[in-house]
Amino acid sequence: MASTPLILSIDQGTTSSRSLVFDANGRIVSSAQCEYKQHFPKPGWVEHNPDDIWRTTVQTADEAMTAAEQQTGGKIECIGITNQRETTVVWDKRSGQALGNAIVWQDRRTSGHCEELRLSGKLDEIVRRTGLTIDPYFSATKLRWILENVEGAIDLAEQGNLAFGTIDAFLIYRLTGGKHHLTDETNASRTLLYNINEGDWDDWLLNLFEIPRSVLPDIRSSSSSFGETDPQIFGRSIPILGVAGDQQAAAFGQACWHAGMIKSTYGTGCFMLASSGNKIVRSQSGLLSTVACRTSAERQFAVEGSIFIAGAVSQWLRDELHIIEDAAETESLAASVSSNEGVYVVPAFTGLGAPHWDSTARGAIFGLTRNTGRAVLTRAAIEAVAYQTNDLVASLISDGLSVDAIRVDGGMVANSWFLQFLSDILEVRIDRPVIIESTARGAAFLAGLKAGIFSNTEQLEELWAHDRQFTPSMLASERQALVSGWQAAVKATLFHAS
Ligand code: G3P
Repeated sequence: MASTPLILSIDQGTTSSRSLVFDANGRIVSSAQCEYKQHFPKPGWVEHNPDDIWRTTVQTADEAMTAAEQQTGGKIECIGITNQRETTVVWDKRSGQALGNAIVWQDRRTSGHCEELRLSGKLDEIVRRTGLTIDPYFSATKLRWILENVEGAIDLAEQGNLAFGTIDAFLIYRLTGGKHHLTDETNASRTLLYNINEGDWDDWLLNLFEIPRSVLPDIRSSSSSFGETDPQIFGRSIPILGVAGDQQAAAFGQACWHAGMIKSTYGTGCFMLASSGNKIVRSQSGLLSTVACRTSAERQFAVEGSIFIAGAVSQWLRDELHIIEDAAETESLAASVSSNEGVYVVPAFTGLGAPHWDSTARGAIFGLTRNTGRAVLTRAAIEAVAYQTNDLVASLISDGLSVDAIRVDGGMVANSWFLQFLSDILEVRIDRPVIIESTARGAAFLAGLKAGIFSNTEQLEELWAHDRQFTPSMLASERQALVSGWQAAVKATLFHAS
C-alpha cells in the first residue's frame, strides 16, 4: 500500500510553540504543544528567549512527527512554518547564536522613537511605502533599538556577521543548519522596512531606521522552497516549502483568498484580514494594508485590523487575577449572568492597536460596584473582544468594504457564547469552521501545494466546511446601549493616556 503523504506544520506562536501534522485531505493527524516563558523585564517590555523558541519548536515537531508516522505508516514529506509576526531577533551568522532575547510584537519600549518619527512629519511617507503606520508593534524600531543597545550588535553588523529576522527567518536559519537566511513576503511586510508597492526592502526606510542591508534576509513568496532541514535535527532532510506570518496563514487556511472574504483569528490578539485580491486598499480609518499569501504570479493583499489583546485576556483572568482556572471556564461564567451590569474592561495592556493606534494607552475597568464578582468581570473581559472587533468592522465599512460574514478561528472560538455575542454586536453572520486550527492548516496548505500534495486552490476550497453559523438575534436597542457603553469606556481610557 502506498504510504500517505504527511505535512508538518510548525506554528510558532506568542505564548506557545505548536506542531501539527496534516494529511492529504487537510485533516489533523497529530499535534503537540509547549508553552514557554514570557519575560517582562520592565513595564511595557515583552521578550522571549530565542533558545526557548527553538527548543519548544524542535521538541513539538519531533513529537507530532513521530506520532503521525507511527499512526498512519505515512511519511512527512514537507514542512510549513507559520509564526508570531513582527517579533524581532538578531543572531551571529557564524554560530546561529542569538544576541539576547527577541523583542516581542507587544513590546512598547520604542514608543519614544515612534513619537519622534511622527513629530518629524514622516508618517505619510512611511504609510505610503509600507501600508502600515508608525507604532512600536512593527519590527523596524525594535531592530534599531537592538543595534543601539545590545552589546556587540553594531560591530557584528559592520563585519557583515549579524543576521536579523522575524521568527520565521530565525527558525529557517536554525532548521537549515545556517544555510539559508530567508523570510517570506508576508512576514517582510510587517517589518516597516518593506515597500509594499514594490515588493522589496526599501532603501529610504533602511536609511531612515539606519539598518544595514547586510542584516536582512532574502524574501521569497510563501509557497516556495526555503531549503531543507539539517539531517542532524530530525534524522533526515525535509524540505521547507511554505512560510507565512500567522495571520496571513490563517486567512489561507480559511480559504479567504477572494477579494471581500474576511477572517478573524482569536489567538493572543485578534487580527481581522479582509482580502483585497491583487489591489492594495488604503484605509482611511486606521486599518493596515498588508501582503497576503499567494499561489499566483501576482502578489495578493489584505486590509488588516490588529487588536493586541484577545485570548490574552483569559490568561490575565487566570494568571494575574486568579478568578478562573482555565480559559474554557469563561464560557459558562459569562453565560451565568444575564448582563455585564454596566461593567466594561478595556484591555489596553500593551496600548491600543487598530483603529486607535495609541501605544501609551493602558488597561482600565469601568462601572464596578460592590456587587461585581468574577462572573461579571469575566463576561466584561470577553465582551471587550467583541466590541474591539466591532470597531474594526466599523472601520472596514467606513472604508467602503461590505461585511456580510466572517470566518473565525483560534482558541477562543471554541467559546460558543462568545461567538453568539460577537454576531449580535457585529450584526454579522459568524462562520466557525470544522477545523479551527486555520493558522497551522494554512501553512500546511502552502507547503502541500508546493510539494504537489494538493493540486490547486480549488481543491483546498472544497476542504473548508463550517461547523456552526451564528446569526444576530439581539434587540437593536440593547446592542446600541452596549456599544455606546463601550465607546464611552474607550474614550475615557484614551483621555487618561493623553
Ligand atoms: O502580529 C502579531 C501576531 O502575529 C500574533 O499572533 O496568534 O500570537 O495572537 P497571535
